[in-house]
Amino acid sequence: MRPESVRARGLPETPFETRGSALQWARQSVDRLDARLLLQAVCGADAAALLAYPEAPLSLPETAEFRALVARRAAGEPLAYLTGEAGFYGERLVVSPAVLVPRPETEDLVTWALQLLENCPSPRVADLGTGSGAIALALAGQRSDARLLAVDISADALAVAEQNRERLARSNVELRCDSWLSGYSTDPVFDLIVSNPPYIPALDPHLQGDGVRFEPRGALTDEADGLEAYRALALQAVPRLKLGGWLLVEHGHDQAEAVAALWRDAGLVAVKSRQDLSGNPRMTAGRKALGGGYG
Ligand SMILES: C[S@@+](CC[C@H](N)C(=O)[O-])C[C@H]1O[C@@H](n2cnc3c(N)ncnc32)[C@H](O)[C@@H]1O
Repeated sequence: MRPESVRARGLPETPFETRGSALQWARQSVDRLDARLLLQAVCGADAAALLAYPEAPLSLPETAEFRALVARRAAGEPLAYLTGEAGFYGERLVVSPAVLVPRPETEDLVTWALQLLENCPSPRVADLGTGSGAIALALAGQRSDARLLAVDISADALAVAEQNRERLARSNVELRCDSWLSGYSTDPVFDLIVSNPPYIPALDPHLQGDGVRFEPRGALTDEADGLEAYRALALQAVPRLKLGGWLLVEHGHDQAEAVAALWRDAGLVAVKSRQDLSGNPRMTAGRKALGGGYG
């Protein structure tokens, strides 16, 4: 089934003669891979079929769809919103403008989370600010013995996460609409609380950047200094961690020290950060002491 986002928006005067000539036209304004993926979405064809039959004709409605999508991509709209899909941790997720497009660096957060859970049988995990469900669903797929709580304040985002949960058949994920864990039991039940919250400061010009300006503002910024979510998480998450449980977050490239200080002030121990592929510290974890102040 083709995604909503690839519906026709009006008919052009003439169709492209072939898929090959459509691709050639598109490459004047968008890159080669984007052009191919958009044409695949329009034709409902996979890469192999597109490459094998470049001489296949395009209908008028397909031409109209393709021209419209290429124009939107050239204007900076993320490819994932146009095709309605994004890859994350080896799986395809449904995405829409209601959710952040999951980023490759967040896959490193999932990898670290899995390492923290290595010696923890049947873990209970919360993913706060789940968006498309990317982190929770990846963890649930890798750890079928885990129980996941995926929380978001946006009902529209949760509707996307629900589609992904159904599509991937991850019945070990529970979805919840809340501001972090504010309405949730205060019992210390979680082995891991993980989050990729909004962390861009309100006045940061990146909010107007290519692609980013199409994403939901509430997924990007706290409308303050970029640290509000971490303050809330330190307050709300730490009491709900079991002894020895971890609080793990993604953050901006210049926020590691501030987040680590918040974690220590909240009583967490063994606080450490990890770098992304560009060498910037982009994730920080801290542990609720097992007892006697030792992690
Ligand atoms: C940066 S996006 C991360 C989405 C997804 N976890 C990912 O990594 O692709 C942050 C998410 O936090 C959600 N959010 C913002 N404020 C929140 C709050 N107070 N409580 C729960 N979720 C919140 C946003 O709606 C958004 O989906």
